[in-house]
Amino acid sequence: MPEAPILGPINAVADLSAASDFEKKHTPHLEIAVVDGVTTVSVTVGWGVPHPNLPDHFIGWIELFAGEASIARFDLSPVVTAPSVSVVVDLDPGTVVRGVAHCNLHGLWAAELTL
Ligand SMILES: [Fe+2]
Repeated sequence: MPEAPILGPINAVADLSAASDFEKKHTPHLEIAVVDGVTTVSVTVGWGVPHPNLPDHFIGWIELFAGEASIARFDLSPVVTAPSVSVVVDLDPGTVVRGVAHCNLHGLWAAELTL
């Protein structure tokens, strides 16, 4: 049975260095920091090429997955918040972490990395 995302197709960019500005400003950028044994995952949309943050064009939410499980979700308001979030996690090394962001005009965008 083919998988069908609930909110439509999810856009993913294989090579960000070769991506268009449109792709760059929508693709989540994931970073992992480990300080004193505490692991923090940060997700920023608009890394390098800022995404609009206007009442009629904005990133409405960012969700973080560990494997197939949703582990955090941030609902964002335009203008007064920026599409950049962080969360402390307790996950095993080798876990695939995926960030998914939703632009109200341009749909779902995802990126992932391995802890
Ligand atoms: Fe957009």
